Amino acid sequence: MKKDFISILDISRDELFTLIAHARKLKEERKVGIHTPVLAQKTLGMIFEKSSTRTRISFETGMFELGGHALFLNPKDMQLGRGEAICDTARVMSRFVSAIMIRANRHDEVVELAVHADIPVINGLSDREHPCQILADIMTIEEWLFRTEGIKVAWIGDGNNVCTSLILSTILTGMEVIVASPEEFSPKKEVIQEAQKMGAKVRVVTDPFFAAESADVVMTDTWISMGQEEEIDQRRKIFMPYQVNSKVMSYAKPEAIVMHCLPAHRNWEITDEVIDSKASAVWDQAENRLHVQKALLVRLLA
Ligand code: CP
Ligand code: NVA
Repeated sequence: MKKDFISILDISRDELFTLIAHARKLKEERKVGIHTPVLAQKTLGMIFEKSSTRTRISFETGMFELGGHALFLNPKDMQLGRGEAICDTARVMSRFVSAIMIRANRHDEVVELAVHADIPVINGLSDREHPCQILADIMTIEEWLFRTEGIKVAWIGDGNNVCTSLILSTILTGMEVIVASPEEFSPKKEVIQEAQKMGAKVRVVTDPFFAAESADVVMTDTWISMGQEEEIDQRRKIFMPYQVNSKVMSYAKPEAIVMHCLPAHRNWEITDEVIDSKASAVWDQAENRLHVQKALLVRLLA
């Protein structure tokens, strides 16, 4: 049966750590110029309903390095953008390509595509989750802190799609997440309850300093996700007390690292001083998208 990767919970704990071990191997091999074309003759169709730098480049480069091919598909240039049904798009693409990656406005679209496709579907970000990002984040935390079990992550900012995948990932990693958000931007209650029922270690607070206290990892993301541009002034004002700056970092452990999935609005959700500090794992976090997604593609396609 084909496998999809729509939620971070589409893999088990064992599969997650096997995937990350493979990603580490691919990273080492790449450094010395070893590329094994295990996905020769395979094509990944990549539908982007929203902009992307990292996701597009890492998937496209990843497929190339694995001996395969990636197709960038802008829905505006596809019949999808003129109203062709998702189910028909899924059926037709299944006849041409080996897998589909979709960055979608609505999570339901990703699910619908997967239901009707005979090939693996990967969620490259939806309004609910960003599971590929969290794979890279877990790999990065292991690289910098050598473990995930017992790691305390302070998520400071918007309780958004990336935050949801992070919360769900604690079920697999043994990390603990404490989210500090303005009340109206906390992760959805259903998400928290569902996650806690499955064993997620998550708490939600409103005080960023309380969340940062003794954290091993301080993580944030934009206050204005794609599609929320009209709320920019309102959000910027509400979120300003949630800026990750050196004061917030001073509450975390002295050896704490700081993470951001990028793109960042410098000096809004994170200051220059912090993102450019020695504690910043942000650039490794971005790079690891490539390695971990290559491992994911091999898992789904080889
Ligand atoms: N972090 C991330 O997904 O970046 P892009 O939006 O540039 O793909
Ligand atoms: N939360 C952000 C992540 C961007 C990678 C967004 O959805 O736009």
